[in-house]
Amino acid sequence: MFELQLLLSILTLSFTSQSYSSTSQLSILQSHHHPKPNPLSISVIDFGAAGDGVKYDTVPIQKAINACSAAVSKHRRQCHVIFPPRKYLTATIFLKSGVVLDIHKKATILGGAKLEDYPKDQSRWYVVLAEDAADVGITGGGEINGQGLKFVQRFDEKKNVMVSWNHTGACLGDECRPRLVGFIGCRNIKVSDVRLIEPAYWCLHLVRSDNTTIRDVTIYGNFNSPNNDGIDVEDSNNTVITRCNINTGDDAICPKSSTGPVYNLTVTDCWIRTKSSAIKLGSASFYTFRNFLFDNITIVESHRGLALQIRDGGNASDMTFSNINTSTRYYHPSWWGRAEPIYVTTCPRDASSKAGSISNLLFVNITATSENGIFLSGSGGGVLSNLKFINMNLTYKRWTKFPDGLVDYRPGCQQLVNHQTAGFMMEHIDGIVVENVVMKWSNDQSMRWNNPLDFRPSTVNNISLLNFYSRSYQQ
Ligand SMILES: *[C@@H]1O[C@H](CO)[C@@H](O)[C@H](O)[C@H]1NC(C)=O
Ligand SMILES: *[C@@H]1O[C@H](CO)[C@@H](O)[C@H](O)[C@H]1NC(C)=O
Ligand SMILES: *[C@@H]1O[C@H](CO)[C@@H](O)[C@H](O)[C@H]1NC(C)=O
Ligand SMILES: *[C@@H]1O[C@H](CO)[C@@H](O)[C@H](O)[C@H]1NC(C)=O
Ligand SMILES: *[C@@H]1O[C@H](CO)[C@@H](O)[C@H](O)[C@H]1NC(C)=O
Ligand SMILES: *[C@@H]1O[C@H](CO)[C@@H](O)[C@H](O)[C@H]1NC(C)=O
Ligand SMILES: *[C@@H]1O[C@H](CO)[C@@H](O)[C@H](O)[C@H]1NC(C)=O
Ligand SMILES: *[C@@H]1O[C@H](CO)[C@@H](O)[C@H](O)[C@H]1NC(C)=O
Ligand SMILES: *[C@@H]1O[C@H](CO)[C@@H](O)[C@H](O)[C@H]1NC(C)=O
Ligand SMILES: *[C@@H]1O[C@H](CO)[C@@H](O)[C@H](O)[C@H]1NC(C)=O
Repeated sequence: MFELQLLLSILTLSFTSQSYSSTSQLSILQSHHHPKPNPLSISVIDFGAAGDGVKYDTVPIQKAINACSAAVSKHRRQCHVIFPPRKYLTATIFLKSGVVLDIHKKATILGGAKLEDYPKDQSRWYVVLAEDAADVGITGGGEINGQGLKFVQRFDEKKNVMVSWNHTGACLGDECRPRLVGFIGCRNIKVSDVRLIEPAYWCLHLVRSDNTTIRDVTIYGNFNSPNNDGIDVEDSNNTVITRCNINTGDDAICPKSSTGPVYNLTVTDCWIRTKSSAIKLGSASFYTFRNFLFDNITIVESHRGLALQIRDGGNASDMTFSNINTSTRYYHPSWWGRAEPIYVTTCPRDASSKAGSISNLLFVNITATSENGIFLSGSGGGVLSNLKFINMNLTYKRWTKFPDGLVDYRPGCQQLVNHQTAGFMMEHIDGIVVENVVMKWSNDQSMRWNNPLDFRPSTVNNISLLNFYSRSYQQ
């Protein structure tokens, strides 16, 4: 009862600050037919949040969300839960339909670093979690911080050793830490103007969701921590990611198909740095990936640029990668990736898996400066077909001391295989067009480039080369 009264007084306050001409609160409440009604809003402070970064604010935050959600049902408008400039330490909080977390640009939500801060079921370990919700969001210019550094047991330039909460047996070794933000079974999601910092594990995770916009989001994770992926788009349709800046240890944008397909993903105007793949499809790839666009993306110092790692029988098709500038380099081989600017592969993960097919890919307007060449590899049951590479400037040179001469099929398949370095390495392909491509190789003595084009004999069919140049240059 107290809460209801408090809510009403807060609602009254927030209404009086709005610029509606009507002075009657009731008419404002009934103004939901207005094309863009101002959202309702309530502050976590009014529900008792301390915001001192030490005391847990889980209960007040959840009460604010629940009150907001009740107001949404009553007034049929979105409701913002406001986080004024302070630090809010919390265990898992659950976002509800119609509710938007509105984090002030000087406010931080800090995720707890203890196992008891998270639900029993490991699949629900997130700092912020929305389940089966609609019209939800996060915005406001502030920060959600997973305190990922508290999960590092030993810092290591090669790869940090992380805490593992694996005693439940539900997850193994490196897969047992909480994610930062999750939307499971949701629709109409908008995450914009927010910083997602130091996730302990994956950062922003969409699962079986539909109609998501992720805009003006900054993601930052420790460069040496494994599994701190940027955005994982799993079994979800109609996702737009734009104007994002992602600087993290593991894969930056990572569509996965585990229990269903991924259709209609658009990623534009992003900047990415990662110790793994900037764009990675898979490796969970049991269902279809279709109709993806990646445009105007800058990738720096990454272990791999644009990657398809199909391993589980799903088929990937109809994708454009355009206006992309990428620099890829070697890191320690404990990380998947061998400095390939483009990596298109499908092979069965293990004896019980099938190989999916990959078809209709267009790469256009690509600039790459890389320590290794492009790797295109289908396999017996999974051919790559109709691949087009148009308008590309590829510069190959070495600037790290890590060894080369390895082809990387991980995960599974043939793992790491010794093989000479090629400009384009190709196997099991039917239909490839290379047009207006300039490939330059540094003639540095330490480089061992062996072939501009390396075709695995008799597995590549229907090749077209038009305006293809390959030459060495003085570095
Ligand atoms: C938990 O992780 C530890 C250390 O990595 C390992 O020794 C142990 O076998 C793991 N237990 C389970 C159930 O995965
Ligand atoms: C998608 O979600 C947005 C809110 O983010 C909403 O405005 C829009 O109507 C939704 N589109 C569909 C087709 O439901
Ligand atoms: C995505 O679309 C496919 C094809 O229509 C559908 O089978 C699947 O259920 C959709 N997934 C979601 C989460 O809506
Ligand atoms: C993908 O987008 C197209 C074009 O906007 C639309 O017709 C189709 O329904 C979408 N697919 C899914 C599964 O939502
Ligand atoms: C490309 O994306 C960057 C942000 O990474 C943006 O500043 C720039 O305006 C975009 N270019 C075009 C042509 O849209
Ligand atoms: C992939 O395509 C093949 C050939 O069309 C088909 O047999 C297979 O069922 C598809 N796989 C999936 C997971 O849809
Ligand atoms: C690619 O990006 C690098 C910085 O990462 C920049 O120096 C270079 O000029 C860019 N090239 C093109 C063609 O945009
Ligand atoms: C490749 O370089 C040429 C010559 O510098 C330039 O005209 C062209 O725009 C570049 N293409 C791309 C895709 O960067
Ligand atoms: C590729 O770049 C050229 C020249 O900058 C531009 O005219 C063309 O529209 C670009 N193509 C795509 C698909 O963006
Ligand atoms: C050869 O490959 C091109 C490009 O992928 C495709 O358009 C064409 O249909 C193929 N031709 C045959 C005979 O398969």
